[in-house]
Amino acid sequence: MKLLVTGGCGFIGTNFIYYMLEEHPQYNIVNLDKLTYAGNPENLKSLERDHRYKFIKGDIVDPKTVEDLVSEGIDVIVNFAAESHVDRSILDCSEFIKTNVFGTTVLLEAARNFGCRFIQISTDEVYGSLGDEGYFTEDSPLLPNSPYSASKSSADLLVRAYFKTYGLDAIITRCSNNYGPYQFPEKLIPLMISNALEDKKLPVYGTGKNVRDWIHVKDHCRAIDYVIHHGKSGEIYNIGGNNEKTNIEIVETILEIIGKPKSLIHFVKDRPGHDFRYAIDSSKLKKELGWKPTIPFEDGLKETVKWYIDNQAWWKRIKSGEYRLYYERMYSNR
Ligand code: NAD
Ligand code: DAU
Repeated sequence: MKLLVTGGCGFIGTNFIYYMLEEHPQYNIVNLDKLTYAGNPENLKSLERDHRYKFIKGDIVDPKTVEDLVSEGIDVIVNFAAESHVDRSILDCSEFIKTNVFGTTVLLEAARNFGCRFIQISTDEVYGSLGDEGYFTEDSPLLPNSPYSASKSSADLLVRAYFKTYGLDAIITRCSNNYGPYQFPEKLIPLMISNALEDKKLPVYGTGKNVRDWIHVKDHCRAIDYVIHHGKSGEIYNIGGNNEKTNIEIVETILEIIGKPKSLIHFVKDRPGHDFRYAIDSSKLKKELGWKPTIPFEDGLKETVKWYIDNQAWWKRIKSGEYRLYYERMYSNR
């Protein structure tokens, strides 16, 4: 099988490429990535001489780049490429619309023209926000609250339209918050780990009581593997860790693991439109495809902290580069 993975130099894409080549040693993977601030080709350096892997630097928004690649004979397109950070979408959403909406359409068009299966890696954020009770199911309405989640919802609707209109073999997955190695240090868990390691303040938005359902990235990758091979065309599959935590619980646990004081915690002005709670019902994926998450959060988080301790050069290079300007803009006046 030959896969076109887009956004493979980002957090989940990197983990997915390693996962797939280990699980399916006979597969070939082409990775199309624009290398935005979030893409790091160093992540996949160990595959440089692997004949099963090919990296192409390019933009999913460019139809010629995409068609040239897909026309070489691709069985499945797995679309991870996206602008993925909610806070950045609040500052400026133009790239989110280009990549997440228009880029997805370019890929859909190529899949239609060349007859590939299309897997859209979407998010639970398309469902909006929950109160204290209840879970998102695949039938929950789309009620996005941030420019990021609105762009992902738009892409999901286009995927649905290509299935309904053209009969494209397309599937959408909607996963909750991932954690694990190679996550860009703008996201909650790697930001808190790396700040704690540097004895910097840990900026917790609002009261810290917002809830996310955390899943280890490897469990997410395995779910996508199941969906590629056994998912039913036109369907949506929710993926969740069944592991709800408040943000403050996460931050305090990280401090405990690293052995740093709670005095590093700094409550800051809340994110505008901050979704209160995400909780995913993944019973459809469990019942129909036999998937379940396997990595206990306590173990996964300790292993993730260890990865960031062992790979300080990886995140220090990011934090001392262009990212510094974003961090100052984002956090200096809160
Ligand atoms: P990320 O920001 O770490 O990586 C995104 C990757 O896409 C980067 O390598 C970037 O260079 C690439 N990219 C961006 N624009 C591109 C373009 N126009 N053309 C080609 N490549 C481009 O993101 P992530 O956290 O790995 O998320 C991957 C996907 O999974 C996204 O679609 C996101 O919406 C979805 N998702 C993420 C989570 C999560 O918790 N991180 C949860 C559910 C769904
Ligand atoms: O639910 C899936 C989504 O999870 C994905 O679709 C997104 O791509 C991914 O970025 C993530 O979105 P969140 O906004 O939930 O993740 P983030 O790590 O930015 O924030 C997690 C929670 O932590 C959220 O409630 C906001 C809070 N937070 C975040 C940051 C960066 C803080 O309190 N302080 C911070 O500095």
